[in-house]
Amino acid sequence: MTVEEIKDYATAFKKSMWSPVIDLLNLRGRLAIEKNQEVIDSQMPSKTATAVAHPNIAFIKYWGNINHELRIPTNGSISMNLASLETRTTVTFEESLDKDVLLLNNEPATDAAVTRVSQLLNRVREVAGIDVHASVESNNNFPTGAGIASSASAFAALALAASRAAGLNSDSDELSRLARTGSGSASRSVPGGFVEWYAGEDHETSYANSIAAPEHWDLVDCVAIVSDVHKRTGSTQGHQSADSSLLQSARVADAPRRLELCRQALLEKDFHNFAEVVELDNNLMHAVMMTSKPPLIYWQPATLAVMDAVQEWRSNGLEACYTIDAGPNVHVICTADDSQKVQEKLLKIEGVKKVLTAKPGGPAHLVG
Ligand code: PMV
Repeated sequence: MTVEEIKDYATAFKKSMWSPVIDLLNLRGRLAIEKNQEVIDSQMPSKTATAVAHPNIAFIKYWGNINHELRIPTNGSISMNLASLETRTTVTFEESLDKDVLLLNNEPATDAAVTRVSQLLNRVREVAGIDVHASVESNNNFPTGAGIASSASAFAALALAASRAAGLNSDSDELSRLARTGSGSASRSVPGGFVEWYAGEDHETSYANSIAAPEHWDLVDCVAIVSDVHKRTGSTQGHQSADSSLLQSARVADAPRRLELCRQALLEKDFHNFAEVVELDNNLMHAVMMTSKPPLIYWQPATLAVMDAVQEWRSNGLEACYTIDAGPNVHVICTADDSQKVQEKLLKIEGVKKVLTAKPGGPAHLVG
């Protein structure tokens, strides 16, 4: 054997002696990398999610805030989700986007709408620890902005879809708080059925819970559409003017009593007491609206015609009462037994263009 051959032999021997050690180190390194990747993967958002939420009709109304930015209301409220009406929203976080984009009913949204959506997305991004923009697609199966609270179902669906897409597992109370920051009444579209929003005094204490399941009471909301034109003064602006009415403090001071009456009537399915408190609460809110600066008058002649007719029908034995949000359309709440008659009668009133009907609806939920 030459000296060179002895050297080669020694090098090969050394390599073969160390190779199991080297393999082991490589394996450990690979495992460490894979493990690390798993940690990173679990921190990454699932990226896309689709949620459905129903609008709701308030029986005891929310009007005015103690904190406008967080939408902490001056008083608690009670509502019912509306089953056949829905907003379906898909949120996708995409690395390639340099800003949030929003399609509303298949049309690019206004800058103001995008800003409002981005504010909610910012809260989600902050909690999830991500820095990625999102594309949001949202569709309603009912007319937008005409007294059917489209912002309620829109922000409830957005809160759920965005949280899920960002990998958060928020519970219903947390989603209700988040939805509230987009639109106060959206906090009530997160839980299902008949819902109470506890006014609270800060972000933590202001959220909504279900007080009875949708099956609890066979009520029907017959929405008399007298106009599907977008309202002139939106509720965000309206809440800010509530304190300019000298009636607002009286309305707010009496709210706990009305909440108790409504909760009780709902739980006992006492239509007579329910109807009285629902109409009283509605009239108080509209009295505040009309006496604010500037005055907000949402009613049209056909709105009053429906209110008048409903009161007459009830005095003749029909179980029906009215309530109206920040728009001209009238929600006629009636028992399922009387709903057919109510629809027929509503359609005979001049100015009523059509009637939408909805039964008590479930909670916001994921569909993809
Ligand atoms: O959630 P907002 O800001 O759209 O306010 C809703 C206000 C009313 O619909 C008039 C009353 C209510 O409680 O839903």
